[in-house]
Amino acid sequence: MPTKEIIYVSILAILLANSEVCGLRLNRVVVPPYKLRGENAVLECHYDLDDDSLYAVKWYKENEEFYRFVPKSHPPQHSYKVEGIKVINEESDSHQVVLRSVTLKSSGLYRCEVSAEGPSFFSVQKEGRLEVVFLPREAPQISGEKKQYQIGDELNLNCSSGKSYPASVLNWYINDNQASDSNLLRYPLQSHNHGLVSSLLGLRMRLISEHFIEGSLRVRCVATVSPLLWQGNKESIFQKIDNREAMLLVRSMATQHTLSAFPWIVTVILARI
Ligand SMILES: *[C@@H]1O[C@H](CO)[C@@H](O)[C@H](O)[C@H]1NC(C)=O
Repeated sequence: MPTKEIIYVSILAILLANSEVCGLRLNRVVVPPYKLRGENAVLECHYDLDDDSLYAVKWYKENEEFYRFVPKSHPPQHSYKVEGIKVINEESDSHQVVLRSVTLKSSGLYRCEVSAEGPSFFSVQKEGRLEVVFLPREAPQISGEKKQYQIGDELNLNCSSGKSYPASVLNWYINDNQASDSNLLRYPLQSHNHGLVSSLLGLRMRLISEHFIEGSLRVRCVATVSPLLWQGNKESIFQKIDNREAMLLVRSMATQHTLSAFPWIVTVILARI
């Protein structure tokens, strides 16, 4: 490369670097990682103009513009129709936009783009992801139980979660120990209206006297909702935000002693708690 061109390229590089240092700077975009369905969501765009003057702040969801603030326009703000988005204009301005009552369709990648007036026409952008969560209205339900069992019988139960988004993760516990995989019957998720899903998990195990502690056996089903959160472009932590459970108590009609001595004659009774 001739020396002259190297010099021009260097000068250009210095100018570009300088314009970033002196002019418009986007510090951060704050998008809540999750919101419950029906809540309002505040999205913030923090920038410094320094010597530049603001031309426009624009907000996009998955590349579709839904809000812009242009100080020189009358009125300065304008919202566009995008599915799942209702902007509260009175609470939105050049630094934040407030979404009313988010729905599952409001989930997605939100981007703020700030641009300066001439002569720099500089523009900067940053993004963040919002996940909308619908918590189950009901606790999980245990079904399939019989009134009485004999030791040696098979306990065959189902646990079904309430409708939620994302799906509830179900776990069975026997006397506070998580049931082993070989005792589980997995079923596919069931879809419902409005994007909601419910989970179903079966438990199958033979009743043995060793299961009974002081004459009873506790069987619990726990449903957990944990949205997948995002950090930058990467899926990150699962955060448990909802935990509910259902419990059955299997009570033997015998003492611990007779249970181990004559397990075949013992009848157990099931109670919902
Ligand atoms: C559990 O649910 C599945 C799917 O609906 C059903 O086929 C099965 O019979 C149920 N089991 C019990 C013990 O209710």
